[in-house]
Amino acid sequence: MIIAVDGPAASGKGTIARELAAHFGLAWLDTGLLYRAVGVTVMRAEEDPDDPDAALAGCDFADDLLEDSELRSERAGNYASRVSVHPAVRAALIERQERFANQPGGAVLDGRDIGTVIAPQADAKLFVTASAEARADRRFADEVTSNPDADRDAILADIEARDERDSERASAPLKRADDADLLDTTNLTISAAVQRAIALVEARTGKR
Ligand code: DC
Repeated sequence: MIIAVDGPAASGKGTIARELAAHFGLAWLDTGLLYRAVGVTVMRAEEDPDDPDAALAGCDFADDLLEDSELRSERAGNYASRVSVHPAVRAALIERQERFANQPGGAVLDGRDIGTVIAPQADAKLFVTASAEARADRRFADEVTSNPDADRDAILADIEARDERDSERASAPLKRADDADLLDTTNLTISAAVQRAIALVEARTGKR
């Protein structure tokens, strides 16, 4: 069984994908980490993420970078969003994601284009969303624990810029697949959102 979970930054899709994987006994891949690894490689080389050649060179990263905590930073997210616009970068990462999706035991992948491009054949697809305000509040609550200077309005502006870039790009933009179930987490606790996601997948697949 393949489950595709797509949605914008801080919608809760990562937590939902992880919990779905645990519930249904499937492997899980956070595909955003691949783009973040490319972004951080470009950032450390002090290259321009908007330059397609520099971004493509960043695809040649070592796997242990995927464990690096810097990948989780807002700056890495911004670089990831910028490198992910380039079709050559997307092409360089596609095979790895398709292989993961099609592994024998089944898989959950979360990202922006899983239900539309990477695994259009997925057995269940969720499009997880929440208002930009709610997502900024969540990011701020996370960040302020380690950074007392965190700026909620700057986080909101970054989320809005990222939504626009991810949705408006020509190559594999963030969009809901026609056959994806919508899950709006704006007014849901994490555990309510996870329960709802499990129920949606059960209804689609008949699996428990
Ligand atoms: O899910 P995330 O915030 O870790 O993703 C970081 C960026 O990577 C996101 O802004 C766009 C890009 N991305 C993508 O283009 N396609 C994916 N499947 C996953 C992420």
